[in-house]
Amino acid sequence: MYGIAILGFGVVGSGVAEVLDKNSDRIARGASRGLELKYIVDVRDFPDSPYRNLLIKDFSVVENDPDVHVVVETIGGVGVAQDFTRRALKAGKSVVSSNKELVAQHGCELLALAKENGVNYLFEASVGGGIPILRPITQCLAANKINEIYGILNGTTNYILTSMIKDGASFDDALRQAQANGYAEADPTSDIDGIDACRKICILADLSFGRHMNPEWVKTVGIRAVTADDVAYAAQSGYKIKLLGRAVSNDDDTVSAYVAPHLVPTENLLAGVEGVMNGIVVRGNAIGDVMFYGAGAGKLPTASAVVADIIDAAKHEHSRKLISWDEGAPDMMRDSALLESRWYVRTEKTQYITEKPQSKAVIDAAFAGLEVLSLFRVLD
Ligand code: HSE
Repeated sequence: MYGIAILGFGVVGSGVAEVLDKNSDRIARGASRGLELKYIVDVRDFPDSPYRNLLIKDFSVVENDPDVHVVVETIGGVGVAQDFTRRALKAGKSVVSSNKELVAQHGCELLALAKENGVNYLFEASVGGGIPILRPITQCLAANKINEIYGILNGTTNYILTSMIKDGASFDDALRQAQANGYAEADPTSDIDGIDACRKICILADLSFGRHMNPEWVKTVGIRAVTADDVAYAAQSGYKIKLLGRAVSNDDDTVSAYVAPHLVPTENLLAGVEGVMNGIVVRGNAIGDVMFYGAGAGKLPTASAVVADIIDAAKHEHSRKLISWDEGAPDMMRDSALLESRWYVRTEKTQYITEKPQSKAVIDAAFAGLEVLSLFRVLD
């Protein structure tokens, strides 16, 4: 039996337990062996849960049990999650994670620790919820030099923007609904201010470009500044407003990356990515553009990716998946403001979309003296 312990019994952790039960035969066939959920670690009490007999509070029980082979970290955040991940890897257990904050900040170190201990650290669920994206980048697209990745990486903000566009919902009502559906982060400002999307574009860039991109180096703007007026003006001109994360590998091997709201032409496939769905475009030098689409958040979609990693860890118990990236440094970044694009600018007097690609500096000069109310890139 391949023993599993889940750390954190929140939306994702409970979804993992549910999927393991629901699809147990199929999962055992995929892993070529029986899997057993042995423990669920959480500081909270769940007296009415069907899993109450598995719930414990002390992580050291998991750490010291030789029959636990994989630890599933769905705690979130860095502190305790990082400590438990390190301890599990050092104890010779593979770790599967949905924790984008931890992977984006410390993935490089944790992958090295996994390597040192001959185990795996897998985190497909950390980007795009249920969408297979990290494995395709590292395996199916491995023959390519990846030049650019961009897309809708946060389900909560896409849900809010879609509700504002389609239903005329207020920002607050749409956020409340996203929270009720279990899409939002514990602190939803991480979603709204683009921080969650920033972590995800960093993980995508780490795997695609091979060097650690620190989230602090990525200019990040969320959706707070998007108004109902912007949504309406964009619609009149044939665009939808979407929060995109983008990372570009430049010719000199520097990387330009940012997160910001964009005007997306309605005929672009990303404009059709609605609600909690995510859409991610990967541009490779052999394949061209490939797009990945699916549920970017939510209990069962995210659990689907976590359980797939558990199956992979079971299949690779005695071998390592070759995932890694090198340390990065701030001088590997080039200012994303230098990436040319068309811009949507709204001032108190006028709104227009520039005819030709322009840099932000040119736009700033053209609008000097006017109060700029909104300034968004246009996706071409
Ligand atoms: N809060 C995240 C989102 C959850 O809305 O996309 C999935 O990472």
